[in-house]
Amino acid sequence: MTMSTQHLLCALDTIADGGACVVDAPLASGDTPVVLVRRGVRVWGYLNRCPHFSLRMDHRAGHINTYKGQVLMCAHHSALFRFEDGHCIEGPCAGATLTPVPVRVVGDAVHLTDQEPRPNTSLEGP
Ligand code: FES
Repeated sequence: MTMSTQHLLCALDTIADGGACVVDAPLASGDTPVVLVRRGVRVWGYLNRCPHFSLRMDHRAGHINTYKGQVLMCAHHSALFRFEDGHCIEGPCAGATLTPVPVRVVGDAVHLTDQEPRPNTSLEGP
């Protein structure tokens, strides 16, 4: 099912430039923790589920790390994921990808644009 209107997730400045945060998004399957990563005015969303052990990637609820403002880091075994496509470039699940959640920046806010996560079709290598 597709949403007819966008759903506000958070203000853009809730996410530090080069940082990440976790919000609950109203996906078709119910409220689901989603990681938002930001670079400048660009934001990408991913299910908060590491492809290594299918665990949440925050070390405590809502607190998630990035490394040098460039990659998202799973709290459990330090897998590193590119912001722009969720591709794991280093760690125990290297080559795997996060599941994208469609989001968009509108003005100074981040919105969910579809209730369904998308299959990650990125074919880019590390
Ligand atoms: S659960 Fe994320 S790296 Fe192991």
